[in-house]
Amino acid sequence: MFLTQIFSNLSLWASFPAFLLYYLFYSSFEMNDLEGYVTDAETILTEYDFIVIGAGSAGAVVANRLTEVSNWNVLLLEAGGDEGIVADIPGAVHLLQRTSMDWQYKTMEQTEACLAFNDNKSNWPRGNILGGSSVLSYMLYVRGNKRDYDDWEAKGNIGWSYDDVLPYFIKSEDNRNPYIAANTKYHGTGGYLTVQEPAWTTPLAAAFVEAGVEMGYESNDGNAAKQTGFMLAQATNRRGRRCSTAKAFLRPIRNRQNLHISMHSHVHKIIIDPVTKQATAVRFEKKGQIYQVNAKKEIIVSAGSVNSPQLLMLSGVGPADHLQSFGIPVIEDLPVGDNLQDHIALGGMVFTVNKPFSAIEGQYYAFPALLNYTMNSAGPLASLLGCEALAWVNTKYADPSSGE
Ligand SMILES: Cc1cc2nc3c(=O)[nH]c(=O)nc-3n(C[C@H](O)[C@H](O)[C@H](O)COP(=O)(O)OP(=O)(O)OC[C@H]3O[C@@H](n4cnc5c(N)ncnc54)[C@H](O)[C@@H]3O)c2cc1C
Ligand SMILES: *[C@@H]1O[C@H](CO)[C@@H](O)[C@H](O)[C@H]1NC(C)=O
Ligand SMILES: *[C@@H]1O[C@H](CO)[C@@H](O)[C@H](O)[C@H]1NC(C)=O
Repeated sequence: MFLTQIFSNLSLWASFPAFLLYYLFYSSFEMNDLEGYVTDAETILTEYDFIVIGAGSAGAVVANRLTEVSNWNVLLLEAGGDEGIVADIPGAVHLLQRTSMDWQYKTMEQTEACLAFNDNKSNWPRGNILGGSSVLSYMLYVRGNKRDYDDWEAKGNIGWSYDDVLPYFIKSEDNRNPYIAANTKYHGTGGYLTVQEPAWTTPLAAAFVEAGVEMGYESNDGNAAKQTGFMLAQATNRRGRRCSTAKAFLRPIRNRQNLHISMHSHVHKIIIDPVTKQATAVRFEKKGQIYQVNAKKEIIVSAGSVNSPQLLMLSGVGPADHLQSFGIPVIEDLPVGDNLQDHIALGGMVFTVNKPFSAIEGQYYAFPALLNYTMNSAGPLASLLGCEALAWVNTKYADPSSGE
């Protein structure tokens, strides 16, 4: 009996260091996990060097890069909360809209579009979550046409030509498809944002590109020298999961002491001095409490293409008559919110194929697919849900001299 007691005491004491080690290991793993979730700021200071409004595609990157300078401190304010696991699943992307992750906007009644929709209005999804619309997006990695950037530069936006922005695309990118990444003039590896073809495609993806070649187009990387052509989709995903800008740019740096990330923080107003026209502070609401925080250097408005203009208008910057109709004192009369352009997404092109290859719903939401995704991050749920390949073609309206 005596002996057994010693043994049981021994095993208790012997297991204690093991627990301690395990705990230390686990917590350091947690601390260093590049994909560990961001913690919501517990304290908010009265003043920061920079305040970034909106932690979406733009805000997450800006906050990351600013806090590389260790003697600047930054407050990143986001109206929404953090991503859950559903947002991680590429094949579940359409389930995210019209949930709390979405601002759930609708357009006004349209007279020349949306005529087949209820009340001639379209849903207008915008991310209301850390990572912003990069959490709702279909993840297609498309930089856009060179000439758009060059046009912005030509209109006076210094630093926005394609040659100016290209180094930043490359710096951010971690392209995991060697045949694309080999073109180092246009692509990068080792950056924060993981880009690759999805883990699963139907045979239609390659067939689509082949069909383009048969018609005389090039099979081409549309994010390199020339956009025109057909390609397999590249997407912002990592190991079969979504790589939102929150996952890419915020989670790995969440322990930086000079960055406070405050979620559920809805900015109501930017305080602008009516005389000097200088923006000095930001007013926001978090859990029913109103905060006003000063910015020593700059306030960055990255609340998205709908909310940024709205916030400017609420702050007194916008069309004077519109602001006055809401009783908002006008600080600067400017056409804020004008010239907004959005693309339509057409879900209605339906055709039959004579092999069982297409993205049929039963294949996605069936038990084998769920199991495969859970175990291997593979199978149909790792796909881009039907958007598998891309083509850019010049129509008869295109400027024939462009060739890009
Ligand atoms: C359904 C869908 C599919 C898409 N698919 C693709 C795709 O496949 N490929 C592609 O390249 N692009 C795609 N896009 C577009 C792309 O996601 C956006 O262009 C991009 O995310 C916009 O970035 P942003 O930083 O301007 O705004 P957002 O990413 O929308 O970020 C704005 C952030 O500000 C926050 N915010 C807003 N107002 C306030 C406030 N008052 N106070 C505090 N925070 C606020 C929002 O909650 C949000 O998090 C898609 C978009 C949608 C909606
Ligand atoms: C939608 O627009 C069409 C064409 O302008 C119009 O005839 C129709 O009445 C509109 N429907 C609704 C519900 O407003
Ligand atoms: C799981 O997906 C992979 C490819 O993504 C596929 O090769 C494999 O056959 C699938 N397994 C099952 C059980 O469906």
